[in-house]
Amino acid sequence: MQTRVKFRTERLVLRPALPEDLDAIHSILSNLQAMAYWSTPPHETVQQSRDWLQSMIAIQLPDGEDLIIERDGKVIGKAGLWRFPEIGFILHPEFWGQGYAQEALTAVIGRAFSIHGLSRIEADVDPRNTGSIKLLSRLGFREIGRKERTWLVGDQWCDSVYLALDAKSWRSASA
Ligand SMILES: CC(C)(COP(=O)(O)OP(=O)(O)OC[C@H]1O[C@@H](n2cnc3c(N)ncnc32)[C@H](O)[C@@H]1OP(=O)(O)O)[C@@H](O)C(=O)NCCC(=O)NCCS
Repeated sequence: MQTRVKFRTERLVLRPALPEDLDAIHSILSNLQAMAYWSTPPHETVQQSRDWLQSMIAIQLPDGEDLIIERDGKVIGKAGLWRFPEIGFILHPEFWGQGYAQEALTAVIGRAFSIHGLSRIEADVDPRNTGSIKLLSRLGFREIGRKERTWLVGDQWCDSVYLALDAKSWRSASA
């Protein structure tokens, strides 16, 4: 059975992606600052973002749960497990530094462990992406490995640092 959820955190609404999110998603995925350490270069065309949004909409349980983040009715980013157990997130830079990613991910991670029954969540981050590494560390993720030349982004090879969070340590930290 597929479940399409919409729920609130203290300041945010998290919900499945819709075709109407295209303009907001394109403004994020074409933003040079937001896309600096993404697995693809910034989107140059709306069609690229349309295709990306379509694949996000297609993510369904039990394969993953990827959600749009809204603040005061405005789409500010996305957070979720785009393919269990891999976490992914991006916010428009206008909304960075206010704890929104942490707030959204706390809800996403809680659901992944308590509702979807995952025992571990993983992240693959560019080692230069200090903001994301700091955020994941704050959520309890720990480094489990590194690899060089994992992603060819445009004409540049990028590396990966792998991080993981176990359900057990999440539960004991939340208790
Ligand atoms: C990574 C990313 C999502 C972080 O977004 P964010 O909302 O700024 O992250 P946080 O929720 O952790 O908030 C960060 C800051 O807000 C602060 N904060 C936390 N709660 C807060 C609150 N309630 N009010 C105000 N500020 C708060 C934090 O202390 C933190 O400050 P610091 O960076 O000085 O330590 C964002 O930088 C981004 O979209 N990056 C590009 C995409 C990307 O690289 N994704 C990862 C691919 S693997």
